[in-house]
Amino acid sequence: MSGLQIAFRAAARKDIKAISAIFEAGLNRTHEFANVTAYVREQINDATIETTVATDKGGRIAGFMMVNLDTGDAAITVDQLAVDSAFRNKGIATALLKHAEDLALKKQFDAVTLYVRADNDNARRLYEGLGYKRLRWQSVYYRDGMAGHKLKKSLLPERPSTWMPAFLRRWAGMTA
Ligand SMILES: CC(C)(COP(=O)(O)OP(=O)(O)OC[C@H]1O[C@@H](n2cnc3c(N)ncnc32)[C@H](O)[C@@H]1OP(=O)(O)O)[C@@H](O)C(=O)NCCC(=O)NCCS
Repeated sequence: MSGLQIAFRAAARKDIKAISAIFEAGLNRTHEFANVTAYVREQINDATIETTVATDKGGRIAGFMMVNLDTGDAAITVDQLAVDSAFRNKGIATALLKHAEDLALKKQFDAVTLYVRADNDNARRLYEGLGYKRLRWQSVYYRDGMAGHKLKKSLLPERPSTWMPAFLRRWAGMTA
């Protein structure tokens, strides 16, 4: 994010309009949310959802992310993520996702999961580049019939594989 001064903070009610505008412009999901503003308001008021906004030095909202902490699982879920088109390719989504990972670790979750539309190559490339792995494919996930990939990034330290023969583990420097 060189040259660009972006700050991150928890979303507040005053941000509903700006978040809704970015949501409507960026996310191909208006068929699912008849009233995006009402949805955004509901999310901001929900204590189990962490909504974070990225702001420029003038306070303008450049992007947002909604994270669900009440998944009943060992992973938190990024429910919504979008960056205003004027602020894309500057690392803002990457920083928001890093924030989701930090939050997951702070709250003692093991992983971050999310769904991405099968036709959203840009977002999928970004997630996979950041270490998200394909977990599941759902042929009809979105209400318009579009398929979705469930992706997951594990935050657990990688352990040496136990099935590996001892001589290979020694060779790989995993045991003395
Ligand atoms: C997908 C989306 C959230 C990405 O936001 P973004 O802020 O542009 O993402 P980043 O800048 O972190 O990364 C985008 C690309 O820019 C690159 N990048 C990051 N920082 C950069 C920098 N300072 N300079 C140049 N490129 C940079 C990243 O490596 C990444 O490259 P890749 O596409 O080859 O992986 C955004 O395009 C968007 O809002 N799209 C519409 C809504 C959407 O699809 N949301 C996701 C739903 S699952």
